[in-house]
Amino acid sequence: MDDLQPWLKAQQKQVDTALGGFLPRASAAPRTIHKAMRYSVFAGGKRLRPILCLAAAEACGGETEHALAPACATEIMHTYSLVHDDLPCMDDDDLRRGRPTSHKIFGEGMAVLTGDALLTEVFTIIAQTPSCKRYEVKDYVMEIASTGGSRRLIGGQVLDLEGEGQSLSKQNLIRIHEAKTAALLTSSVRLGGMTANATPRKLDALTTFGYNLGLAFQVIDDILDVTQTTEMLGKTAGKDEAVAKSTYPAILGLEKSRNEAARLTRKALKALDVFGKKGKRLEQIARYLLEREY
Ligand code: IPE
Ligand code: IPE
Ligand code: MG
Ligand code: MG
Ligand code: MG
Repeated sequence: MDDLQPWLKAQQKQVDTALGGFLPRASAAPRTIHKAMRYSVFAGGKRLRPILCLAAAEACGGETEHALAPACATEIMHTYSLVHDDLPCMDDDDLRRGRPTSHKIFGEGMAVLTGDALLTEVFTIIAQTPSCKRYEVKDYVMEIASTGGSRRLIGGQVLDLEGEGQSLSKQNLIRIHEAKTAALLTSSVRLGGMTANATPRKLDALTTFGYNLGLAFQVIDDILDVTQTTEMLGKTAGKDEAVAKSTYPAILGLEKSRNEAARLTRKALKALDVFGKKGKRLEQIARYLLEREY
């Protein structure tokens, strides 16, 4: 694990440079929206989704350079979802990635438009992904579009909002996590694999990996919301309980939630067997995410 942190830093840098190149300049008219888009994208996220995309390309023997466009597309889709997730009509959060949320700085109307503009940018960027033998641009577009749509990410956000103040069953909670979080993590690794011309078998393995890692990721997010400080998280701690969200810790308690995250991570790791040594980065990322503190 020793070499993971410098590797993550290098990947973050590579992703940030690519993001800067894909996004409209802050000086482009109208300036407000381009400033706002860059404000949220460059607020200092972990860049987990794009890094998973690059690591999956590596696991399948591909060039990480070919995976940069879809990697950036996943990060921008994620950032748009956060800008909207934080709106007063959604989770009503004032802090994100250690900074005031978009609507706090630019106003609510502009934050809605910033999310819209980022989501649209996702498709401009994904369309620039190079085709390979098995996959063409249409396949990349369909992958990310279906993940962002009303059956997955948006559908999960719908169920999440409708679940406020209710005590959901574990099964219903899993449905929310699958849609609002695991879908985009799954697509992140799938897209990386696709740019590397992954065989159907390897793509299946990435799907299983991403799905279980994604479920574990949201369980950990919910645990950290209870156990961490606002400073450490860069977003307001204790928010879920304050608005009576149905979460793993709320339903199962902290210890069982931790066990569940570890079990899901083990399931994710098992799916990596097919990649042999090339799956090393994906393995390291999964282990690190289980232990993460923010
Ligand atoms: C937070 O995601 C939202 C969830 C889906 C749980 P991250 O924890 O990846 O947020 P950033 O990108 O590092 O800010
Ligand atoms: C966010 O879930 C999921 C999406 C934005 C799709 P949360 O509402 O738990 O994320 P945080 O805790 O605000 O980052
Ligand atoms: Mg939310
Ligand atoms: Mg939220
Ligand atoms: Mg949360």
